[in-house]
Amino acid sequence: MDATLLPKSWPVDQILNDLDQRGFTIIDQAYSADYTHALVEECMSNLTQFRNAAIQNGVINNIRSDHILWINEGLEVAQEHLQSLSSLAEQFNRAFYAGIDDVEAHFACYNAGEFYALHRDNPQGKNGRVISAVYYLHETWQDDWGGELHLQDKNNQWHIIQPKSNRIALFQSDLLHEVLEAKHQRLSITAWLRNDNNIW
Ligand code: OGA
Ligand code: MN
Repeated sequence: MDATLLPKSWPVDQILNDLDQRGFTIIDQAYSADYTHALVEECMSNLTQFRNAAIQNGVINNIRSDHILWINEGLEVAQEHLQSLSSLAEQFNRAFYAGIDDVEAHFACYNAGEFYALHRDNPQGKNGRVISAVYYLHETWQDDWGGELHLQDKNNQWHIIQPKSNRIALFQSDLLHEVLEAKHQRLSITAWLRNDNNIW
């Protein structure tokens, strides 16, 4: 992991402090306009390959109705985002001994009427996910388009986070959260910073 890939505008001290105090933080204006544009293009040009996220191993789980595409090396623009997150993970490792050693991610598309009901990304430490990072990549978003992220922080306070363009919501993967029904197409990348070595 290469620390030089951390975007200079990211307020690392505040990110670490928020995660420590509340278990979540927001990074606004995460990337340049050129980069966000390229990412939207990459996402939109692959939309036909997105799969129904509710179906896993042939079993339907009605908790969610979005469509996803896992990010592999072929998705080069998205890879740059994963590298930025890896660099940020190095800072977490230094500050919290978090032991993060991997990043996994998928694009997600919520069309009008789609949602993701209350859940935790890592309930009771059952998988290696430590931090969830959701980047909102649609180029415009209006406050009345729904699709908010509703999140309970580590002090049990609830927050409503608008999926504003070019915003990253970062939170502990064990926290309870949901995506309210979107009224417009909502595009994102969900990434998880993982620690797969220290599960006990
Ligand atoms: C998820 C998730 C939140 C969001 O993908 O697990 O909770 O705001 N996403 O898209
Ligand atoms: Mn989630």
